[in-house]
Amino acid sequence: MKIGLLTGGGDSPATNAAIRAVVKRAERDGHEIIGIKKGWAGVINKEAEKLTRDNVSGIINKGGTILGTSRTNPFKMDNGIELAIDGVKSLGIDAICAIGGDDTLGVAHKLNNLENPIHAVGIPQTIDNDIAGTDYAIGFDSALAIATDAIDKLHTTAESHRRVMIVEVMGRDAGHIALEAGLAGGADVILVPDEDFDVKEVGERIKKRTDRGKTFSIVVVAEGAKPIGVEDQVVKSGKKDMFGHVMLGGIGEYLNKELADLTHLETRVTNLGHLQRGGAPTPFDRLVATRFGLRIVEMINEGKWDYMVCLKGGKVTEIPLEDALKTKPVDLDLLELSKVFY
Ligand code: F6P
Repeated sequence: MKIGLLTGGGDSPATNAAIRAVVKRAERDGHEIIGIKKGWAGVINKEAEKLTRDNVSGIINKGGTILGTSRTNPFKMDNGIELAIDGVKSLGIDAICAIGGDDTLGVAHKLNNLENPIHAVGIPQTIDNDIAGTDYAIGFDSALAIATDAIDKLHTTAESHRRVMIVEVMGRDAGHIALEAGLAGGADVILVPDEDFDVKEVGERIKKRTDRGKTFSIVVVAEGAKPIGVEDQVVKSGKKDMFGHVMLGGIGEYLNKELADLTHLETRVTNLGHLQRGGAPTPFDRLVATRFGLRIVEMINEGKWDYMVCLKGGKVTEIPLEDALKTKPVDLDLLELSKVFY
């Protein structure tokens, strides 16, 4: 088969490890891999080139994606579907393997369900780790390591200056990075989109710490977290991408001001931003990405179209793509447990 391989949405470390595994395994099984450039945009623009074992040699430790990425949604473009169908035909592709988050995988699902289906399978990849039906999405562990390291570093300066340090992390509508990095880094307050917070209560918690003789506090807040009673998340701009997402960001600044007023302590804010998506992948990420890449070729061999490879209880398996297309919230029990440390 001639398989089109693409990466869409926000990039993440270990995507290249998955690409490498897909190409090497597919070549061994007699398939040809066409690397499609810049996500679904490359299908529409017919921008692609053949990938071989040699092209993907030495990329397991490289961040980003050698294929490039975009947030292009053919289903939201004039004639987008016709253009995508035409792109697939012109490139002579028999099936598509899409690596990305729920947006990218959503397009793969829709293509499988056209009147004349385009066969597609998916690999979950997003630092947000918010894809339903899988315990893990490629990139999360690397982002977690970066966020945890940042919290460690903020501790020392917070202690020296006796400040409240607020650190804003990514994650869109779920707080996986905030919760796990917050726990791993020993944060004093963790705020996630999965549970609205009372800013006065956060101020009280920090004051209680001061009363107990603690001279500093670390607050980790997910970009999508919001105070109780406030309808909208804090956004950088009202502009939406082709999947209807606004650019989140700024809740850290809000807390910086509010907590300074409420606690009369000195506060500072750090927004980790795209640093969380950069650099070399962790060994865990490389391993899962490699296992996903190897298994997806088996799924293609078996004709398991409209499925996504996933990790469940440490085992690599698969689920229908349809079941993956909703946000996976954080484990609320773990969130509750994290309050033991407040
Ligand atoms: O989905 C991954 C993610 O990093 C989110 O956590 C974040 O909200 C978004 O992408 C940022 O997207 P962009 O790189 O387009 O600003």
